Amino acid sequence: MSPFLVIILVLLAVYKLYRFTIDKPPNSPPGIIRLPIGGSYWMLLWKNYKFPHLAVDYYTKKLKSKIISGYFGDFFLVIVNDYASIKEVFTREEFDGRVTCLETINDRAFGKKLGIFFIDGPQWHEQRRFALRYMRDFGFGRRQDKLESEIMDEMSLFIDILKNGPIYDGEKEIMKGNLMLFPDILYATSANNIWNVMFGQRFDRSKHDISRHLCRSAMMFQRANETTGGMILFLPILKYFGNMFGYTNHMKGNYAIVDVVKKTLEEQKITLSEHIDRGFVDKYLKKLNENDKSEYFTEEQLIILLVDVMFPALSASPTVITHIIKYLMHHPKAMEKAQSEIDTIVGTGRLVTWEDRKDLPYIEAVIRETMRIETLTPFGVIHKALKDTTLGGYDIPANTPIFTNLSAMHHDREMWGDPENFRPERFLKEDGQICKDMSLPFGLGHRVCMGETYARYTIFETLALLLQNFNFSFVEGEPSSLEDRVPGLIVNVKELWIRLELR
Ligand code: HEM
Ligand SMILES: *[C@@H]1O[C@H](CO)[C@@H](O)[C@H](O)[C@H]1NC(C)=O
Ligand SMILES: *[C@@H]1O[C@H](CO)[C@@H](O)[C@H](O)[C@H]1NC(C)=O
Ligand SMILES: *[C@@H]1O[C@H](CO)[C@@H](O)[C@H](O)[C@H]1NC(C)=O
Repeated sequence: MSPFLVIILVLLAVYKLYRFTIDKPPNSPPGIIRLPIGGSYWMLLWKNYKFPHLAVDYYTKKLKSKIISGYFGDFFLVIVNDYASIKEVFTREEFDGRVTCLETINDRAFGKKLGIFFIDGPQWHEQRRFALRYMRDFGFGRRQDKLESEIMDEMSLFIDILKNGPIYDGEKEIMKGNLMLFPDILYATSANNIWNVMFGQRFDRSKHDISRHLCRSAMMFQRANETTGGMILFLPILKYFGNMFGYTNHMKGNYAIVDVVKKTLEEQKITLSEHIDRGFVDKYLKKLNENDKSEYFTEEQLIILLVDVMFPALSASPTVITHIIKYLMHHPKAMEKAQSEIDTIVGTGRLVTWEDRKDLPYIEAVIRETMRIETLTPFGVIHKALKDTTLGGYDIPANTPIFTNLSAMHHDREMWGDPENFRPERFLKEDGQICKDMSLPFGLGHRVCMGETYARYTIFETLALLLQNFNFSFVEGEPSSLEDRVPGLIVNVKELWIRLELR
């Protein structure tokens, strides 16, 4: 080969690589450089290895735009960082899609597109509508005496266990004297309450190991492999590296929940009664027995639907409660205010109930403020453009995944003034009453979190009861810093022992 030809070929290759790094769809938002295989993800890892998502901040500043684009693997995607555009993504129907072709995601669902989180189109419309309609009958998303009193039973038992100490081996692992392991101590109650909505039954105290197993599996699934966990979604080839990118743990955690669900479904089928529905599952099983149902109603869909709906209750709720307690411990004035609000309004003679919520605005403000400053799902859950459209003056091609950076919005200086400060008062009016909530921890619009009402209720109830009954202090040597987080699908706390003293 002549040297001339070699030079031409090298130049061509360099040019191709150069085009590869900067090419993107016409008039799309300003982009982060793309490298082979991992796409722009390498650039993020390079900037911030532990929490790559944090690195995007650097690029929004560098590219001088609140809407930016990049490549994860071969996926061209858009990241939206400001309130107005995020709200548009949440509320415009053409952004209601989800990325449904991710191999790792479908692997957790018997290799199919099932569940609720990662489906879209007519299948999603139908399954979401059916789930919401009938879960409502069991107190999900609206107030219902039966569920509330059963949740109160669980809560009283929880407080009782904390006060009187462990009996079973599983309890002894998470309670030592007045030291309690968080978030684990919250698992039994969290799992039982959501299990009750779905199946109409709860695991009694001697079987709390099963409840804890459900939560631990959900945690294993979503924590998977800390740093590189996010990459596997867009680079399915990484699944062949075992646990290096978290694949093994994703699947292990997921199928552990599937196993318990399947076993319970078998029992539930045998005892299904014509006259009564014990929980949502009975409704769905009866639907499966109908002849004129759509093709989307299958037993496998039921299983993954249950996993999807229960998964955040098993993992997100205990995590949020632990975040809140940690923030309050770091802000003793806020802790004192919260406890004295409960003392004044409720006292110590009875347990705090849902009725009390409207009279406890400071507690409410504490919950909102923690969910703002410590955004549990920094990106929300990825949306997708269902057709060619525009956003903020840029063209967005059909099928583009869109990240709603809730964390950016929750820390926007223009919106919050002093976003870095933990200040529950920002959610209160001058007269101490709660004011309009501009934070969006649960999203908004058609895809809004299905568990928002339920989550707000159970988080409120658990927190209020803990504050009513105990004082909290950190234990020497435990990961007590607010920076002690563990990355995953949600932002986790490191497990820690906290001292609880009866007030
Ligand atoms: C504890 C705090 C929780 C937070 C911060 C949270 C947050 C979110 C967010 C941001 C989304 C995505 C919204 C979007 O697509 O734009 C979501 C979706 C969802 N959440 Fe939650 N969630 C929580 C708890 C729960 C609970 C307890 C449940 C169920 C019991 C639940 C069930 C769901 C479901 C099923 C979806 C998917 C909805 C869909 O894709 O149509 N979440 N959540
Ligand atoms: C989201 O916003 C935060 C806060 O501005 C920033 O640190 C992070 O890089 C952003 N991430 C993405 C994916 O936009
Ligand atoms: C994550 O990957 C590293 C490197 O392969 C491995 O040592 C570690 O055990 C993994 N962590 C988890 C939680 O799977
Ligand atoms: C609980 O904490 C408050 C505020 O720090 C303190 O005044 C009170 O004495 C503590 N109560 C108990 C029983 O330790």
